[in-house]
Amino acid sequence: KGVAIFASGGGSNMRALVADMTGDHPARPAVVLSNNADAGCISWAQGQGIATEVVDHRPFGADRAAFEAAMTAALAAHAPDIICLAGFMRKLTAGFTDAWAGRMINIHPSLLPKYKGLHTHARALEAGDAQHGCTVHEVTAALDDGPILGQARLDVAPDDTPETLSARVLTLEHRLYPAVLRRFAAGDRSPVTLKG
Ligand code: GRF
Repeated sequence: KGVAIFASGGGSNMRALVADMTGDHPARPAVVLSNNADAGCISWAQGQGIATEVVDHRPFGADRAAFEAAMTAALAAHAPDIICLAGFMRKLTAGFTDAWAGRMINIHPSLLPKYKGLHTHARALEAGDAQHGCTVHEVTAALDDGPILGQARLDVAPDDTPETLSARVLTLEHRLYPAVLRRFAAGDRSPVTLKG
């Protein structure tokens, strides 16, 4: 299976996924796509000899369908079977998510269905949650929704700040996402559960 990884930033989850895709893993990285030419994920992937595509969203303005058509065109040469969203900070329309239904997954830094969207760590702290974590799920048209494929949880410490919590959840993300992709690429949708 070929995997397209979509990222907008440094791409630490992308690196964790790529690092795992060796040996008997049922998938291999096909391409890294970013909406940001300056993103660390692009320079890192280039250094690894992984194909990259940059599709800047800005020229398309509010026309998300045209942006997505450009991404679809950029993907064509790489013929991926699976898309992994890894810190890809553009919302996708139903046109794109429907085309990839059952073949596109995302990692989100909360225990979904709690805290869809941004600022998840601050929101978990404000709510006084005893546990927090991250979720990998299939992507549907609704943001941070879709069938859950795995969750990793940790205990919130009394002195946690959004920054300390974010850092600890990110290390859990780096364990959870590769574990889920391994199963998903083999056709296994049984949920992965991890504890930090
Ligand atoms: C991660 O926390 C991911 O869950 C979120 O964006 C962050 C991306 O980090 N959606 P990185 O680019 O993978 O380092």
